[in-house]
Amino acid sequence: MRKSMSLRFFLLIITTLTLNTAYPANTNRITDPVILGAGEKLFQTNCAVCHGIKAQGKGEDWNKPNTDGKSPPPPLNGTAHAWHHPVGALMKTIRNGTMPIGGTMPAWKNTLSNEEIFSIIVWFSSLWPDEIYNEWMRRNKQ
Ligand code: HEC
Repeated sequence: MRKSMSLRFFLLIITTLTLNTAYPANTNRITDPVILGAGEKLFQTNCAVCHGIKAQGKGEDWNKPNTDGKSPPPPLNGTAHAWHHPVGALMKTIRNGTMPIGGTMPAWKNTLSNEEIFSIIVWFSSLWPDEIYNEWMRRNKQ
């Protein structure tokens, strides 16, 4: 029987919460192709226009404000600081966007479900090198 997306999501949370105790020897990355595939597709449709098709950003210095004082979209591929934020904080930023805090990213909570947003995070975090992924996991557990 084909597992539903919700069941996969549930199993994923359990896996994330229980299996990652092996840090730092084992990264226990999420490798479910259905979740990763869904996340990549949603990213390409909704996020790539600003964050780049490989989540590499836009080629500008993401750390330097534009002439209007706003920040450019940062890379989400592990070269900027998305991994500083635990998964709950990333979910919140993506759900609410950054306009309420003076940024320019639209809110996604009316367009994408939590499950879909989570799958996007699973996809872009799959691009991160092991040491960054492990550090993110450590922060997720704090
Ligand atoms: C219209 C352009 C735009 C789109 C589309 C967009 N973003 Fe953003 N995003 C930004 C900008 C700009 C920032 C930097 C914060 C700010 O607005 O000042 C940002 C910040 C973020 C951050 C915080 C990164 C960090 O290092 O803290 C995350 C995570 C993120 N975006 C994820 C997404 C996801 C996932 C999508 C698609 C569902 C998406 N963004 C779509 C413009 C965009």
